[in-house]
Amino acid sequence: MRPVNDPILSVRDLEIAYRTGRKESVTAVSGVDLDLYQGQSLALVGESGCGKTTLGLGLLRLLPKLGRITSGTLLYRLKDGSHADLLGMGKEELRRFRWNQAAMVFQGAMNAFNPVARIFDHFADTLRDHADRKRWTKRAVERKAGELLETVRLDPDRVLPSYPHELSGGMKQRALIALAIALDPQVLVLDEPTTALDLLTQRQIVQQLHELRGKFGFTMVFITHDLGLAAELADRVATMYAGRIIETGSARDIFYSPKHPYTAGLINAVMPVHGDRPALESVPGYPPSLKAMPPGCAFHPRCALATEECKLAPVALDVLAERPEGMTHAAACLHHDRVGLDGGTGARLPSSTEGEATNA
Ligand SMILES: Nc1ncnc2c1ncn2[C@@H]1O[C@H](COP(=O)(O)OP(=O)(O)O)[C@@H](O)[C@H]1O
Ligand code: SF4
Ligand SMILES: [Mg+2]
Repeated sequence: MRPVNDPILSVRDLEIAYRTGRKESVTAVSGVDLDLYQGQSLALVGESGCGKTTLGLGLLRLLPKLGRITSGTLLYRLKDGSHADLLGMGKEELRRFRWNQAAMVFQGAMNAFNPVARIFDHFADTLRDHADRKRWTKRAVERKAGELLETVRLDPDRVLPSYPHELSGGMKQRALIALAIALDPQVLVLDEPTTALDLLTQRQIVQQLHELRGKFGFTMVFITHDLGLAAELADRVATMYAGRIIETGSARDIFYSPKHPYTAGLINAVMPVHGDRPALESVPGYPPSLKAMPPGCAFHPRCALATEECKLAPVALDVLAERPEGMTHAAACLHHDRVGLDGGTGARLPSSTEGEATNA
Protein backbone atom coordinates (compact mmCIF):
# COMPACT_ATOMS: atom_id res chain seq x y z
CA MET A 1 0.00 0.00 0.00
CA ARG A 2 2.51 2.57 -1.12
CA PRO A 3 0.77 5.72 -2.23
CA VAL A 4 2.41 7.55 -5.10
CA ASN A 5 2.01 11.20 -5.80
CA ASP A 6 -0.01 10.97 -8.95
CA PRO A 7 -3.66 10.20 -8.17
CA ILE A 8 -5.20 7.07 -9.63
CA LEU A 9 -8.45 8.95 -10.07
CA SER A 10 -9.13 12.67 -10.15
CA VAL A 11 -12.75 13.74 -10.10
CA ARG A 12 -13.57 17.37 -10.77
CA ASP A 13 -16.88 19.15 -10.38
CA LEU A 14 -18.89 16.04 -11.04
CA GLU A 15 -22.62 16.44 -11.45
CA ILE A 16 -25.07 13.59 -12.02
CA ALA A 17 -28.78 13.92 -12.74
CA TYR A 18 -31.70 11.52 -13.16
CA ARG A 19 -34.43 12.18 -15.66
CA THR A 20 -37.73 12.10 -13.81
CA GLY A 21 -40.07 13.18 -16.57
CA ARG A 22 -40.13 14.29 -20.14
CA LYS A 23 -38.44 17.56 -19.42
CA GLU A 24 -37.69 17.17 -15.76
CA SER A 25 -34.65 15.92 -13.97
CA VAL A 26 -33.22 15.97 -10.49
CA THR A 27 -29.60 16.53 -9.61
CA ALA A 28 -28.53 13.66 -7.37
CA VAL A 29 -24.81 14.48 -7.12
CA SER A 30 -23.15 17.84 -7.57
CA GLY A 31 -19.85 19.63 -7.16
CA VAL A 32 -17.86 16.52 -6.31
CA ASP A 33 -14.08 16.91 -6.35
CA LEU A 34 -12.02 13.92 -5.30
CA ASP A 35 -8.45 12.69 -5.69
CA LEU A 36 -7.85 9.03 -4.96
CA TYR A 37 -4.36 7.67 -4.49
CA GLN A 38 -3.07 4.17 -4.94
CA GLY A 39 -3.86 1.79 -2.12
CA GLN A 40 -6.19 4.14 -0.28
CA SER A 41 -9.50 3.10 1.15
CA LEU A 42 -12.13 5.80 1.01
CA ALA A 43 -15.45 5.42 2.81
CA LEU A 44 -18.36 7.35 1.35
CA VAL A 45 -20.80 7.76 4.20
CA GLY A 46 -24.20 9.33 4.67
CA GLU A 47 -27.85 8.51 5.12
CA SER A 48 -29.87 6.64 2.56
CA GLY A 49 -30.70 8.81 -0.46
CA CYS A 50 -27.73 11.18 -0.14
CA GLY A 51 -26.21 10.07 -3.44
CA LYS A 52 -23.58 7.52 -2.45
CA THR A 53 -24.65 4.85 -4.92
CA THR A 54 -25.12 7.43 -7.68
CA LEU A 55 -21.60 8.73 -7.14
CA GLY A 56 -20.16 5.20 -6.96
CA LEU A 57 -21.86 4.20 -10.20
CA GLY A 58 -20.81 7.49 -11.77
CA LEU A 59 -17.14 6.77 -11.01
CA LEU A 60 -17.35 3.84 -13.44
CA ARG A 61 -19.97 5.29 -15.77
CA LEU A 62 -22.33 2.54 -14.74
CA LEU A 63 -25.38 4.71 -14.16
CA PRO A 64 -28.81 3.33 -15.00
CA LYS A 65 -30.53 4.53 -18.16
CA LEU A 66 -32.16 7.58 -16.66
CA GLY A 67 -29.00 8.73 -14.93
CA ARG A 68 -26.52 10.96 -16.68
CA ILE A 69 -23.26 12.67 -15.85
CA THR A 70 -24.16 16.24 -16.72
CA SER A 71 -20.75 17.80 -16.12
CA GLY A 72 -17.31 17.22 -14.71
CA THR A 73 -14.24 15.14 -15.44
CA LEU A 74 -13.16 11.69 -14.28
CA LEU A 75 -9.48 11.36 -15.03
CA TYR A 76 -8.01 7.90 -14.42
CA ARG A 77 -4.37 6.95 -14.40
CA LEU A 78 -4.41 3.62 -16.19
CA LYS A 79 -2.19 0.62 -15.43
CA ASP A 80 0.19 1.56 -18.24
CA GLY A 81 0.71 5.00 -16.69
CA SER A 82 -1.31 6.88 -19.30
CA HIS A 83 -4.26 9.06 -18.33
CA ALA A 84 -7.77 8.91 -19.71
CA ASP A 85 -10.96 10.83 -19.06
CA LEU A 86 -13.67 8.25 -18.55
CA LEU A 87 -16.22 10.61 -20.06
CA GLY A 88 -14.34 10.67 -23.35
CA MET A 89 -14.25 6.88 -23.76
CA GLY A 90 -16.16 5.08 -26.46
CA LYS A 91 -18.03 1.81 -25.94
CA GLU A 92 -15.10 -0.46 -26.71
CA GLU A 93 -12.69 1.55 -24.56
CA LEU A 94 -15.17 1.43 -21.71
CA ARG A 95 -15.50 -2.33 -22.04
CA ARG A 96 -11.74 -2.70 -21.74
CA PHE A 97 -11.65 -0.22 -18.88
CA ARG A 98 -14.21 -1.90 -16.67
CA TRP A 99 -13.01 -4.90 -14.67
CA ASN A 100 -9.44 -4.33 -15.89
CA GLN A 101 -8.93 -0.86 -14.45
CA ALA A 102 -11.90 -0.44 -12.15
CA ALA A 103 -14.65 -2.75 -10.97
CA MET A 104 -17.76 -2.49 -8.85
CA VAL A 105 -19.56 -4.71 -6.39
CA PHE A 106 -23.13 -3.45 -6.57
CA GLN A 107 -25.49 -2.69 -3.75
CA GLY A 108 -27.70 -5.72 -3.14
CA ALA A 109 -25.11 -7.58 -5.14
CA MET A 110 -26.15 -10.93 -3.82
CA ASN A 111 -28.82 -10.87 -6.49
CA ALA A 112 -26.33 -9.77 -9.12
CA PHE A 113 -25.45 -13.30 -10.18
CA ASN A 114 -27.36 -14.77 -13.07
CA PRO A 115 -29.47 -17.42 -11.29
CA VAL A 116 -29.21 -19.94 -14.11
CA ALA A 117 -25.44 -19.78 -14.52
CA ARG A 118 -22.93 -21.60 -12.34
CA ILE A 119 -20.31 -19.58 -10.49
CA PHE A 120 -17.68 -21.00 -12.86
CA ASP A 121 -19.56 -19.51 -15.82
CA HIS A 122 -19.57 -16.08 -14.21
CA PHE A 123 -15.80 -16.18 -13.91
CA ALA A 124 -15.38 -17.58 -17.41
CA ASP A 125 -17.63 -14.94 -18.98
CA THR A 126 -16.01 -12.06 -17.14
CA LEU A 127 -12.46 -13.14 -17.91
CA ARG A 128 -13.21 -13.94 -21.54
CA ASP A 129 -15.26 -10.81 -22.22
CA HIS A 130 -12.83 -8.35 -20.74
CA ALA A 131 -9.42 -9.86 -21.36
CA ASP A 132 -7.63 -11.92 -23.96
CA ARG A 133 -10.30 -14.46 -24.83
CA LYS A 134 -7.94 -17.21 -26.05
CA ARG A 135 -5.95 -17.21 -22.87
CA TRP A 136 -8.94 -18.20 -20.77
CA THR A 137 -9.30 -21.89 -21.42
CA LYS A 138 -11.45 -23.89 -19.03
CA ARG A 139 -8.37 -24.88 -17.04
CA ALA A 140 -7.03 -21.35 -16.89
CA VAL A 141 -10.37 -20.04 -15.64
CA GLU A 142 -10.54 -22.80 -13.03
CA ARG A 143 -7.05 -22.00 -11.84
CA LYS A 144 -7.59 -18.26 -11.63
CA ALA A 145 -11.08 -18.50 -10.09
CA GLY A 146 -9.80 -21.15 -7.67
CA GLU A 147 -7.01 -18.88 -6.45
CA LEU A 148 -9.36 -15.95 -5.98
CA LEU A 149 -12.00 -18.00 -4.19
CA GLU A 150 -9.38 -19.42 -1.86
CA THR A 151 -8.27 -15.89 -1.05
CA VAL A 152 -11.79 -15.14 0.17
CA ARG A 153 -11.84 -18.51 1.99
CA LEU A 154 -14.25 -20.31 -0.26
CA ASP A 155 -13.72 -23.87 -1.40
CA PRO A 156 -13.43 -23.73 -5.21
CA ASP A 157 -14.43 -27.38 -5.61
CA ARG A 158 -17.69 -26.68 -3.86
CA VAL A 159 -18.38 -23.16 -5.16
CA LEU A 160 -17.38 -23.23 -8.85
CA PRO A 161 -19.90 -25.89 -9.91
CA SER A 162 -22.67 -24.33 -7.79
CA TYR A 163 -25.58 -22.20 -8.87
CA PRO A 164 -25.95 -18.93 -6.96
CA HIS A 165 -28.98 -20.16 -4.99
CA GLU A 166 -26.88 -23.00 -3.59
CA LEU A 167 -24.67 -20.51 -1.74
CA SER A 168 -25.41 -18.54 1.41
CA GLY A 169 -25.60 -14.73 1.26
CA GLY A 170 -22.13 -14.37 2.72
CA MET A 171 -20.66 -16.88 0.29
CA LYS A 172 -22.25 -15.10 -2.64
CA GLN A 173 -20.92 -11.76 -1.49
CA ARG A 174 -17.43 -13.19 -1.13
CA ALA A 175 -17.65 -14.84 -4.54
CA LEU A 176 -18.69 -11.50 -6.02
CA ILE A 177 -15.77 -9.72 -4.45
CA ALA A 178 -13.46 -12.42 -5.84
CA LEU A 179 -15.05 -11.96 -9.27
CA ALA A 180 -14.69 -8.18 -9.13
CA ILE A 181 -10.93 -8.44 -8.62
CA ALA A 182 -10.45 -11.21 -11.18
CA LEU A 183 -8.75 -8.86 -13.62
CA ASP A 184 -6.74 -7.09 -10.98
CA PRO A 185 -8.45 -3.69 -11.14
CA GLN A 186 -6.71 -0.68 -9.67
CA VAL A 187 -9.93 0.69 -8.23
CA LEU A 188 -12.66 -1.33 -6.55
CA VAL A 189 -15.96 0.32 -5.66
CA LEU A 190 -18.03 -1.62 -3.13
CA ASP A 191 -21.56 -0.47 -2.47
CA GLU A 192 -22.81 -1.51 0.98
CA PRO A 193 -20.95 -4.83 0.76
CA THR A 194 -21.99 -6.10 4.15
CA THR A 195 -25.53 -4.78 4.43
CA ALA A 196 -28.07 -7.59 4.82
CA LEU A 197 -25.47 -9.99 6.19
CA ASP A 198 -25.38 -11.26 9.74
CA LEU A 199 -22.77 -9.82 12.09
CA LEU A 200 -20.38 -12.74 11.96
CA THR A 201 -20.39 -12.75 8.16
CA GLN A 202 -19.91 -8.98 8.14
CA ARG A 203 -16.81 -9.44 10.24
CA GLN A 204 -15.43 -12.07 7.90
CA ILE A 205 -15.98 -9.85 4.86
CA VAL A 206 -14.28 -6.90 6.52
CA GLN A 207 -11.34 -9.10 7.46
CA GLN A 208 -11.08 -10.43 3.93
CA LEU A 209 -11.25 -6.98 2.38
CA HIS A 210 -8.31 -6.02 4.59
CA GLU A 211 -6.40 -9.06 3.43
CA LEU A 212 -7.25 -8.53 -0.23
CA ARG A 213 -6.12 -4.94 -0.12
CA GLY A 214 -2.88 -6.02 1.48
CA LYS A 215 -2.34 -8.66 -1.17
CA PHE A 216 -3.48 -6.85 -4.31
CA GLY A 217 -3.00 -3.21 -3.32
CA PHE A 218 -6.12 -1.91 -5.04
CA THR A 219 -7.69 1.40 -4.20
CA MET A 220 -11.03 0.98 -2.56
CA VAL A 221 -14.12 3.16 -2.48
CA PHE A 222 -16.34 1.74 0.17
CA ILE A 223 -19.93 2.97 0.30
CA THR A 224 -21.71 2.54 3.58
CA HIS A 225 -24.26 4.06 5.88
CA ASP A 226 -22.53 2.18 8.73
CA LEU A 227 -19.91 4.37 10.34
CA GLY A 228 -18.60 1.54 12.46
CA LEU A 229 -17.62 -0.27 9.31
CA ALA A 230 -16.12 2.86 7.82
CA ALA A 231 -14.01 3.29 10.94
CA GLU A 232 -12.62 -0.21 10.49
CA LEU A 233 -11.96 -0.21 6.79
CA ALA A 234 -11.25 3.32 5.70
CA ASP A 235 -8.19 5.50 5.85
CA ARG A 236 -10.19 8.34 4.32
CA VAL A 237 -13.79 9.37 4.77
CA ALA A 238 -16.09 11.61 2.73
CA THR A 239 -19.50 12.46 4.17
CA MET A 240 -22.25 13.10 1.67
CA TYR A 241 -25.37 15.11 2.24
CA ALA A 242 -28.00 15.90 -0.36
CA GLY A 243 -25.71 14.95 -3.23
CA ARG A 244 -22.64 16.86 -2.10
CA ILE A 245 -19.50 15.96 -0.21
CA ILE A 246 -19.83 18.11 2.88
CA GLU A 247 -16.81 16.87 4.80
CA THR A 248 -13.71 14.99 3.83
CA GLY A 249 -10.48 14.00 5.52
CA SER A 250 -8.44 11.19 6.98
CA ALA A 251 -10.42 8.68 9.01
CA ARG A 252 -8.59 9.98 12.04
CA ASP A 253 -9.59 13.61 11.47
CA ILE A 254 -13.16 12.69 10.69
CA PHE A 255 -13.73 10.31 13.57
CA TYR A 256 -11.85 12.24 16.23
CA SER A 257 -12.46 15.77 15.10
CA PRO A 258 -15.44 16.07 12.76
CA LYS A 259 -16.08 19.64 11.70
CA HIS A 260 -19.48 19.37 10.11
CA PRO A 261 -22.46 18.99 12.47
CA TYR A 262 -23.91 16.31 10.20
CA THR A 263 -20.80 14.11 10.35
CA ALA A 264 -20.67 14.70 14.08
CA GLY A 265 -24.29 13.60 14.40
CA LEU A 266 -23.69 10.44 12.37
CA ILE A 267 -20.68 9.52 14.46
CA ASN A 268 -22.46 10.29 17.66
CA ALA A 269 -25.23 7.88 16.74
CA VAL A 270 -22.83 4.92 16.61
CA MET A 271 -20.16 5.76 19.16
CA PRO A 272 -20.01 3.53 22.23
CA VAL A 273 -21.85 4.92 25.20
CA HIS A 274 -19.65 6.28 27.97
CA GLY A 275 -20.84 7.14 31.42
CA ASP A 276 -24.21 8.79 31.47
CA ARG A 277 -24.25 9.79 27.83
CA PRO A 278 -27.54 9.10 26.13
CA ALA A 279 -27.49 5.87 24.15
CA LEU A 280 -28.45 7.41 20.82
CA GLU A 281 -28.30 11.01 19.82
CA SER A 282 -28.74 10.92 16.11
CA VAL A 283 -29.42 13.61 13.56
CA PRO A 284 -32.97 14.92 13.94
CA GLY A 285 -35.29 15.16 10.95
CA TYR A 286 -34.91 13.84 7.42
CA PRO A 287 -32.78 14.61 4.39
CA PRO A 288 -34.37 17.05 1.94
CA SER A 289 -36.10 16.03 -1.25
CA LEU A 290 -33.97 16.61 -4.33
CA LYS A 291 -36.91 18.48 -5.79
CA ALA A 292 -37.13 20.93 -2.92
CA MET A 293 -33.60 21.58 -1.77
CA PRO A 294 -33.36 24.11 1.07
CA PRO A 295 -31.51 27.29 0.07
CA GLY A 296 -28.01 27.91 1.37
CA CYS A 297 -26.55 25.03 3.36
CA ALA A 298 -28.92 22.14 2.61
CA PHE A 299 -28.46 20.86 6.15
CA HIS A 300 -29.77 24.00 7.84
CA PRO A 301 -33.31 22.77 8.63
CA ARG A 302 -31.76 20.01 10.75
CA CYS A 303 -28.83 21.88 12.19
CA ALA A 304 -28.69 23.13 15.77
CA LEU A 305 -25.98 25.62 14.82
CA ALA A 306 -27.76 27.15 11.84
CA THR A 307 -27.91 30.93 11.60
CA GLU A 308 -29.56 33.22 9.05
CA GLU A 309 -26.27 33.35 7.18
CA CYS A 310 -26.45 29.59 6.58
CA LYS A 311 -29.61 30.01 4.53
CA LEU A 312 -28.26 32.61 2.14
CA ALA A 313 -25.85 30.85 -0.21
CA PRO A 314 -24.44 27.36 -0.76
CA VAL A 315 -21.54 26.66 1.58
CA ALA A 316 -18.33 25.48 -0.06
CA LEU A 317 -15.80 23.09 1.44
CA ASP A 318 -13.34 25.03 3.55
CA VAL A 319 -9.86 23.61 4.05
CA LEU A 320 -9.20 23.15 7.76
CA ALA A 321 -5.96 21.18 7.68
CA GLU A 322 -3.79 20.62 4.61
CA ARG A 323 -2.59 17.04 4.32
CA PRO A 324 -0.90 15.15 1.51
CA GLU A 325 -2.52 12.74 -0.90
CA GLY A 326 -6.16 13.62 -0.65
CA MET A 327 -6.20 13.52 3.15
CA THR A 328 -6.82 17.26 3.55
CA HIS A 329 -9.52 17.91 6.12
CA ALA A 330 -12.24 20.13 4.72
CA ALA A 331 -15.81 20.85 5.80
CA ALA A 332 -18.66 22.80 4.27
CA CYS A 333 -19.86 24.53 7.41
CA LEU A 334 -19.83 28.21 8.29
CA HIS A 335 -19.62 27.39 11.99
CA HIS A 336 -17.22 24.45 11.94
CA ASP A 337 -15.26 25.92 14.84
CA ARG A 338 -18.27 25.28 17.06
CA VAL A 339 -18.62 21.58 16.31
CA GLY A 340 -17.20 19.97 19.41
CA LEU A 341 -15.77 16.78 20.79
CA ASP A 342 -17.00 14.82 23.69
CA GLY A 343 -14.12 14.06 26.03
CA GLY A 344 -12.01 12.95 23.11
CA THR A 345 -14.04 9.80 22.65
CA GLY A 346 -16.17 10.91 19.80
CA ALA A 347 -18.22 13.73 18.45
CA ARG A 348 -21.50 15.06 19.61
CA LEU A 349 -24.08 17.13 17.89
CA PRO A 350 -23.96 20.66 19.19
CA SER A 351 -26.42 20.49 22.04
CA SER A 352 -26.67 24.18 22.77
CA THR A 353 -28.78 26.36 20.56
CA GLU A 354 -26.56 29.39 20.67
CA GLY A 355 -27.19 31.60 17.73
CA GLU A 356 -30.41 31.14 15.94
CA ALA A 357 -31.51 27.54 16.07
CA THR A 358 -33.77 26.45 13.28
CA ASN A 359 -34.22 22.77 13.82
CA ALA A 360 -37.58 21.60 15.02
N1 LIG B 1 -33.09 5.75 -11.20
C1 LIG B 1 -33.35 6.87 -10.50
N2 LIG B 1 -34.26 7.78 -10.94
C2 LIG B 1 -34.50 8.91 -10.23
N3 LIG B 1 -33.92 9.22 -9.06
C3 LIG B 1 -33.05 8.35 -8.57
C4 LIG B 1 -32.71 7.12 -9.23
N4 LIG B 1 -31.79 6.46 -8.49
C5 LIG B 1 -31.57 7.23 -7.41
N5 LIG B 1 -32.32 8.36 -7.48
C6 LIG B 1 -32.35 9.45 -6.49
O1 LIG B 1 -31.06 9.93 -6.32
C7 LIG B 1 -30.82 10.21 -4.95
C8 LIG B 1 -29.59 9.49 -4.50
O2 LIG B 1 -29.85 8.10 -4.50
P1 LIG B 1 -28.71 7.05 -4.18
O3 LIG B 1 -27.51 7.41 -4.96
O4 LIG B 1 -29.28 5.70 -4.40
O5 LIG B 1 -28.42 7.32 -2.64
P2 LIG B 1 -27.75 6.40 -1.53
O6 LIG B 1 -26.96 5.34 -2.22
O7 LIG B 1 -26.92 7.34 -0.74
O8 LIG B 1 -28.86 5.83 -0.73
C9 LIG B 1 -32.08 9.79 -4.19
O9 LIG B 1 -32.85 10.93 -3.94
C10 LIG B 1 -32.78 8.89 -5.14
O10 LIG B 1 -34.17 8.98 -4.98
S1 SF4 C 1 -23.90 25.61 10.94
FE1 SF4 C 1 -24.79 26.43 9.08
S2 SF4 C 1 -23.34 25.92 7.49
FE2 SF4 C 1 -22.85 24.64 9.25
S3 SF4 C 1 -23.96 22.76 8.87
FE3 SF4 C 1 -25.26 24.03 10.16
S4 SF4 C 1 -26.56 25.09 8.71
FE4 SF4 C 1 -24.84 24.27 7.55
MG1 LIG D 1 -27.12 3.32 -2.04
